[in-house]
Amino acid sequence: MTNSRPVVGVYPGSFDPVTRGHEDVARRTLRVCDRLVVAVAESSSQSKHHLFDVPERLEIMREVFADEPRIECVSFSGLLVDFARTTGARFIVRGLRAVADFEYEFQMAQMNRELYDGVETIFLVPDLGYSFLSASLVREVAALGGDVSSFVSPPVLERLRRHLS
Ligand code: PNS
Repeated sequence: MTNSRPVVGVYPGSFDPVTRGHEDVARRTLRVCDRLVVAVAESSSQSKHHLFDVPERLEIMREVFADEPRIECVSFSGLLVDFARTTGARFIVRGLRAVADFEYEFQMAQMNRELYDGVETIFLVPDLGYSFLSASLVREVAALGGDVSSFVSPPVLERLRRHLS
C-alpha cells in the first residue's frame, strides 16, 4: 500500500443482538484497518424474526463499543456493496466460526464481487471460545430463561432482561 489514505473496513451483519463473538471480530479487525464501520443491515435474511429493532441494536452497539473511537456503528439499507462503496471501504469483514459458515459466506462474497469488484471481502476467525456462539442461539437461550451473561456484554444483557421480562 503506497498511499496514506486511512484504511476503512465495513463489518456488516444483523447483530440481533451483538455477541461477544461479534465484538471479538470487530476489535481484531482494528489490527488491519484505521477505522471500522460496524453496519447493521436494515434488510437482512433474518429481518422478519428480529428481537430488537434496528435503532435499539444500534444503541446497544454504540454502548458496547463506546471505548473504541475507531469504531462507528451505523445502519444501512439496500445493497451492502453500495453502502461499502459510498463509505469508501477497502474491505468487508465477516467472521468465520466453523466450516458450516463457509458456504453461506462464500456465496455472499462471490455475489458481492459480481455486484461490485471494488471492495474485497476478508474473513477473520473469532476466539475459539466463541466458535459456537451465534445471535440466534443467544436469543433462544435468553428467551427460555437461560444464562447468557458470558456470551454478551452488559449493555446487551441489560436490554435482554428488560425486553424479555
Ligand atoms: O449477520 P447476518 O444476518 O449473517 O448478516 C447478513 C448480511 C446483513 C451481511 C447480509 O444479509 C447483507 O449483506 N444484507 C444487505 C443486503 C445485501 O446486500 N444483500 C446481498 C448480499 S450478497
